[in-house]
Amino acid sequence: MFSCKICSGHIDLIHDFGRMPIANHYLKTAQADEFFYHLQLLLCQKCSMIQLGECVAPSQMFHENYHFISSTSQNMSHHFERTAFDFLQLVQSRRDPFIVEVGCNDGIFLKHVACQGFRHLGVEPSKNVAQASRAKGIQIIEDFFNEKSALKIFNDKGPVDILYGANVITHIEDLASVMKGASALLKKDGWFIFEDPYFPHVMEKGAFDQIYDEHIYYFSVLSVDCVARSFGFKLVDVSPQPVHGGSMRYYLRSSQSSAQPKAVVGKYLQLEQKMGLNALSGYLKFCEKINQNACSLKNMLRKIKEEKNQIVGYGATAKSSTLLNYSKIGVDLLDYITDNTPPKIGKFSPGQHIPIVSHERFVEDHPAYSLLLAWNHKEEIFLKEASYRNNKGKFITYVPQLEIV
Ligand code: TMP
Ligand code: ZN
Repeated sequence: MFSCKICSGHIDLIHDFGRMPIANHYLKTAQADEFFYHLQLLLCQKCSMIQLGECVAPSQMFHENYHFISSTSQNMSHHFERTAFDFLQLVQSRRDPFIVEVGCNDGIFLKHVACQGFRHLGVEPSKNVAQASRAKGIQIIEDFFNEKSALKIFNDKGPVDILYGANVITHIEDLASVMKGASALLKKDGWFIFEDPYFPHVMEKGAFDQIYDEHIYYFSVLSVDCVARSFGFKLVDVSPQPVHGGSMRYYLRSSQSSAQPKAVVGKYLQLEQKMGLNALSGYLKFCEKINQNACSLKNMLRKIKEEKNQIVGYGATAKSSTLLNYSKIGVDLLDYITDNTPPKIGKFSPGQHIPIVSHERFVEDHPAYSLLLAWNHKEEIFLKEASYRNNKGKFITYVPQLEIV
């Protein structure tokens, strides 16, 4: 039996996905052994936090061969350039402001802070991406962000104006330690800002592939507001972000700061209460959608295959691991998955062991159908693949709905 990782409250099962491999763990050979864990989505009805039951050890997910490299998407590069601009405006009138990023990956955000000479630090546990950041002139410590490393940063470098985490706070099981670390590290008038996929959007779209080992928490404004209060913060602002299929950025400040929450926070709290997100009954429709979506996609792929058409996957995303393994879509349906991340090419997808191939191979092959596993990069990919689509190449998309385009 699990209890809530945040408030120790009673938790209920929203959905059981069964045994799953580690989503970002690409295999060197199709026969390689791999680790499986039990993927269950749970709800705490006391603090509204949605969370996983069994969690994979961080060292098994984030290591020297971490396969997720942020800068493979131009849209994401632009997103973080805009973010850096906005944050620098928040602190530019301060004397020598200090910006720290949790999980800075290959420096996609911090490079814009570093190049303008601002004091900064990236806290990144995965060696390969930490090195990529250093090569861009970014200050890095190779570590997990928690209360201990936060205190060390505070002692060595002093208090922080902005602590930022993009698509990373959701990854950290010991969220209490992160909150305590943020509290110890920040100036009284500092900001703790983080963004992650917004769970109500995941539900609306039936995008159950967002649920996998690295995402331990699935935030809503209700649950973040509750966590903030429990650790001496207040949630003062929220702002939807058009990345990762719909994210939310949360702005937390010390409960002692004079800043008042903006009206938009209250609006979201009301809306989410109306959706019933603090009770299990609010999730029933989503659970139905999970099974319906998985079934209709598999039936469509089978039919296309029966008509002797080639189908491949486009984008070896971490998300696709849940989709392909839960729906049992394997090499009988997808010949391969094409991806532009060099370390993924030549490897095999977790669980289903589908080969990952280069974009050049995809261009050469010109498959009749491509299942858009990287649906969160649809606009960018459709722009890039205009000639594929103009020459009878078809994409199958399954979020927000199943269609051939
Ligand atoms: P993400 O959904 O976690 O951002 O991962 C996107 C994956 O899709 C990543 O492995 C890179 C890949 N990708 C391509 O292969 N081609 C592209 O044009 C884009 C934008 C991403
Ligand atoms: Zn709880």
